[in-house]
Amino acid sequence: SAATDYQAEDALISQGAVATNHTGYSGSGFVDYTNVKGSYVEFTADAAAAGPASLTLRYANGTSTDRPMDLSVNGTVVASAVSFPATADWNTWASRTVNVTLKAGSNKIRATATTAAGGPNLDRVSL
Ligand code: GCU
Ligand code: CA
Repeated sequence: SAATDYQAEDALISQGAVATNHTGYSGSGFVDYTNVKGSYVEFTADAAAAGPASLTLRYANGTSTDRPMDLSVNGTVVASAVSFPATADWNTWASRTVNVTLKAGSNKIRATATTAAGGPNLDRVSL
């Protein structure tokens, strides 16, 4: 079925802030992770049925250093230290896709920075 977009600026943010100081984002902004390990954005996504789903995260990383994040679904890390490598600059967005398994109904999908640099800027997830 068609993907649904979940904007990061509408999600639960721990150690981060909604920002608009770069171009090319969707919705009304993006999340600027605080540059600390453990900063996260948590999305609540509904699934009509249990089963596999393709989770795509749209991000920017205007540094030259990877900003890895753990991806968890309903409290379980399903992909560890997923790489979010440099994009050309903070106005340039790229996508990373991870296969996940959802339960029927409401699912909590969290992207947590694993290094002291924090996460990349996060625009949205789609699944
Ligand atoms: C800059 C940039 C922010 C980014 C930050 C970072 O301040 O403007 O959008 O989040 O660098 O390094 O995380
Ligand atoms: Ca940041």
